[in-house]
Amino acid sequence: MTYESLGPADLRHAESLKWTLYPEGVIPMWIADMDFPVAPPILAALHERLERPIGYYPSQAEELTGLLQAKFRTQGLGDVPAEGIAYLPGVVPGLYAAVNALSAAGEAVVTMTPVYHPFHLAITDLGRKVVGVPLLDTPTRWEIDWDALDAACAGSKVLMLCHPHNPTGRVWDAEELGKLRELALKHDLYVISDELHADLRYTGQPFEAFAADPRVRERTVTVTGPCKAFNTAGLGIGAMFSHNSELVKKIKTTTAGLMGHPSMLSLTMWQAALRDGGPWLAETVDYLRGNRDLITQFLHERLPAVKFHPVEATYLAWLDMRAYPQAGDIQNFLLDEAKVAIHNGPVFAHEEQKPLYQGFIRLNFATPRPILEDALERMAAALG
Ligand SMILES: Cc1ncc(COP(=O)(O)O)c(C=O)c1O
Repeated sequence: MTYESLGPADLRHAESLKWTLYPEGVIPMWIADMDFPVAPPILAALHERLERPIGYYPSQAEELTGLLQAKFRTQGLGDVPAEGIAYLPGVVPGLYAAVNALSAAGEAVVTMTPVYHPFHLAITDLGRKVVGVPLLDTPTRWEIDWDALDAACAGSKVLMLCHPHNPTGRVWDAEELGKLRELALKHDLYVISDELHADLRYTGQPFEAFAADPRVRERTVTVTGPCKAFNTAGLGIGAMFSHNSELVKKIKTTTAGLMGHPSMLSLTMWQAALRDGGPWLAETVDYLRGNRDLITQFLHERLPAVKFHPVEATYLAWLDMRAYPQAGDIQNFLLDEAKVAIHNGPVFAHEEQKPLYQGFIRLNFATPRPILEDALERMAAALG
């Protein structure tokens, strides 16, 4: 597959937020949207459904539920009961709903920073206290600070996990998952596990869900959706699930009347993705792996002062640019001098920890390779 016939003019024309927020000429590498057209089997299913223009109140989503249950079995989750699956308008509403139901105002909620911003926003917007445990930068990868996490969990009832982790691109391995589960048991925690990026892995290993261990199933709610792997963010659907259907019921109760129902087209889309999207996904992940490798090599050869651990998953590169004199205002520098728009490091932490991530950027590399090369060349030229 090649995505290389698509240029900036085509992408801007799509009227996406990603391509229209900044002026023409800027390469947008910020929001997590891919510059690749949606998979043909998904488009075919959507067309087919639109040609039957009637009955758009969805039924009970039984087909989608069955497809998801089959997928969960491949992630070590065994049987997730249908009553344990609840559909959402997106994954973020699930994060908010879970924090809201599983903690009380003023209580501490633990997460590992840097982290996808709606994690800390959900905690603070709902009047809870973020306890952010910074990940450790080791010579080979980002790792969990186990002592700090243990201490943080001692004072909390809820742990929010991002697995795979946005923005560092880590896929927590079996040993790390084992330790995380021990902590959840030791401190009697609820775990909210966001596994949205699970299908965008470069590790070659099967994905192990946090709740793959039966001992933590009753205390875990997982959120997922098709929007990252299948590039369907605008179609809006997600799901939260737990083996413990009472937990899902409890979360749903706190948002009764607020979630609406998923649109018929989003259900059609997710079903088609799960049923027929596999080959497209495999090719797209290969293409993304190539982009990741290109960044790794480019940085090594041309911008060796940038620190980067090649990501194991996601199409987001977390770059440490603190060695550059421009690090203090790196976002504006890259926008003004390189005409490249990125997400600024401090976005990925709550107020207290924002200074830790000044000089880091998150760069979305899900774009045709010539555009990626252009962006990297521009950055290298601007940084001298
Ligand atoms: C970890 C994670 N969770 C949730 C979302 C957003 O999901 P949604 O658009 O379905 O709310 C993103 C988007 O980038 C993400 O990276």
